[in-house]
Amino acid sequence: MSQKTSFAGQLIAWQKRHGRRNLPWQGTNDPYRIWVAEIMLQQTQVATAIPYYQRFVRRFPDLASLAMAPLQDVLALWAGLGYYTRARNLHRAASQVEQESKGQFPRDFAALKALPGVGRSTAAAIAAAAFGERQAILDGNVKRVLTRCFAIAGDPADRAVENQLWELAEKLLPEREIVVYTQALMDLGATVCTPNNPACGLCPLAARCQARARDLVAFLPAPRPRKTLPERELTLPLVVAAGNVLLEQRPPTGIWGGLWSLPELSADTSAATMLAPILRMGAVAPQPLPVIRHRLTHFRLLLHPVLYRLDQPLMALGEPGRAWFSKTALTRIGMPTPIAKLLRGVL
Ligand code: ADE
Repeated sequence: MSQKTSFAGQLIAWQKRHGRRNLPWQGTNDPYRIWVAEIMLQQTQVATAIPYYQRFVRRFPDLASLAMAPLQDVLALWAGLGYYTRARNLHRAASQVEQESKGQFPRDFAALKALPGVGRSTAAAIAAAAFGERQAILDGNVKRVLTRCFAIAGDPADRAVENQLWELAEKLLPEREIVVYTQALMDLGATVCTPNNPACGLCPLAARCQARARDLVAFLPAPRPRKTLPERELTLPLVVAAGNVLLEQRPPTGIWGGLWSLPELSADTSAATMLAPILRMGAVAPQPLPVIRHRLTHFRLLLHPVLYRLDQPLMALGEPGRAWFSKTALTRIGMPTPIAKLLRGVL
């Protein structure tokens, strides 16, 4: 098949006319900056990621600055993006490269893939964009494009289906113009071959799309069987004193690891015991706030915040790892999104 009419050829031609060209991570072949972008884009859409990316590379313009920074500063810049493991992995990878490779950032696909938080598809995306390496990507968007275009049934997260998709992704790679091709696949998945109401009328692959020919577009990719996630309920005392809120830093690993959150009431402690040193001075009636539901990867959280509004500034903390934060100070720390939202409504 001639280059022009092949799958890759059609995508490349489309990208040159209709693809996204001015994204802030496109004007560079600095692998550090491309790595940061690809990690952000793993679970965040382009429009949301752009301002975060710009702040991040302004504050940490290179690997050395990221490696030297306290983790807390990295988390604070990440706050609101969710999936904080990504930020912890970026920081860990930066320190690792500084120490083990004398600051020399990986120069190929295999070395990239060895970084914490960098899987096969992310390594391929960075290697293609930064070094022009001919590697296949297969993120969620690309899985959707391929399952539709080649009418591949089955859950793309299943090992067997995923292997089939990787094979296909490799087979489709063009000999040249890998950068444009990789970007084309991403752009097509994000802007044309969208999960709902795809714009098939604008798709350069429409004529060869098997899902379209067989009227299967709405059914592919096959939806993931939804497990009912276990639910965890927590009571969160929200203590406010003279415009300051009492927060507790979470342990470095586990959910919201390293972020500042509300103290958490375990099943065997009462609020009165937990907050004794604080509440003894100027306690008021606790006020239950509306329940917050929050979905995480492996379970659902049902949070019951209870507001204690104290009428005097209090400095007793009760526990190490706790601190009072003013409204302004809150902007400088990393907080889980549902907690940040809750505080905005209360302070
Ligand atoms: N999604 C993942 N990587 C991307 C990139 N480099 N550009 C646009 N969307 C993306």
